[in-house]
Amino acid sequence: MTILVTGGAGYIGSHTVIQLLESGNDVIVLDNLCNANPEVFNRIEKICNRRPAFIEGDVRNAVLLDTIFSNNQIDSVIHFAGLKAVGESVANPVLYYQNNVAGSITLFEVMQQHGCKKVVFSSSATVYGDPASIPVTESSPYAPANPYGTSKMMVENILTDLHISDNNWQVALLRYFNPVGAHPSGLIGEDPKGIPNNLMPFVTQVASGQLEKLSIFGGDYPTQDGTGVRDYIHVQDLARGHLKALEALAENHGCAAYNLGTGVGYSVLDVVNTFMQENQLDIAYQIVERRAGDVAEYYADPSFSSDRLGWKAEHSLKDMVRDHWNWQKNNPEGY
Ligand code: NAD
Ligand code: UD1
Repeated sequence: MTILVTGGAGYIGSHTVIQLLESGNDVIVLDNLCNANPEVFNRIEKICNRRPAFIEGDVRNAVLLDTIFSNNQIDSVIHFAGLKAVGESVANPVLYYQNNVAGSITLFEVMQQHGCKKVVFSSSATVYGDPASIPVTESSPYAPANPYGTSKMMVENILTDLHISDNNWQVALLRYFNPVGAHPSGLIGEDPKGIPNNLMPFVTQVASGQLEKLSIFGGDYPTQDGTGVRDYIHVQDLARGHLKALEALAENHGCAAYNLGTGVGYSVLDVVNTFMQENQLDIAYQIVERRAGDVAEYYADPSFSSDRLGWKAEHSLKDMVRDHWNWQKNNPEGY
């Protein structure tokens, strides 16, 4: 089977590409490298003794997409390509709607023209905003709190409408919770540009001495230890979720959204303490003011994904902190 993976050079995409190749699929990656390094393909080859076909280009380029679909018998698409920085989306919403929404529309138009109607879309738990109740189920209402989240909701709406208009469209909307960790080889992992916004890459850069100290945003939340609680999920589990979704699409699946989370919430202090214990390292930290826009606590109800996709997260928080550090320690400057 040939699968087009947009954004396949990025963090989650590259981990998924490895599992697709290992399962015997042919993979074509389309990525404009705006947030990726082509060295990732050498690393993928080291891990699987194969590399995907790689086309450097933009999902907004309809002519290029048309050529790719004309030259290949593509069975389905996993659509990772997108921008993902919440703060940047607030500062430059047009960029986010252009890249994430217009890019998706261009892709779906070309897919439709070529009769390719199976798509797995990278959505996010951010579509729920500050959820009214936890654990969060897929039927919780949309309440995105920033243009990034709105762009994900809009693409979900477009795909839902496409399926309503033509039920040959088979759609899986995967709502990731907080992806962390790395491939156990330590050869591929998350490679953020500049100072990381997210917790785990910040912690690993403090551990490696690149950053001095972690600021924990808020110690007075109504949580077990006052720090924010999230559902961290190992990127290897997340990647496997995409293969499970593809299998489901092959069985006349329809259109559905799935939470990809573990169902367990950990606080910032849980993460920091587990990181220190598991890796035998000290992390300097201080508790500071809350970060604007953060919510106290959320975690997934993953039972629908388990029932419908036969998917469950298998990695523990210990696995996540160990593998994330293994990647960082072996690649202190990233790729
Ligand atoms: P990433 O930035 O590592 O990967 C995205 C990839 O898409 C990059 O390689 C980038 O170069 C590419 N890309 C971006 N715009 C493109 C375009 N117009 N044309 C072609 N390629 C383009 O991010 P990631 O963490 O791997 O996330 C993958 C997807 O999952 C994104 O859509 C993101 O919004 C979504 N997501 C990520 C998280 C997270 O925390 N990492 C959480 C929820 C959802
Ligand atoms: C953020 C994004 C969300 C995205 C998710 C993916 C925002 C508002 N939300 O979620 O859209 O889907 O990343 O991973 O940006 N923390 C610290 N110190 C730090 C960094 C983070 O204490 O230096 C805390 C945060 O306050 C939060 C937790 O760690 O409680 C996780 O933060 P982060 O990794 O940024 O993820 P989210 O805020 O959950």
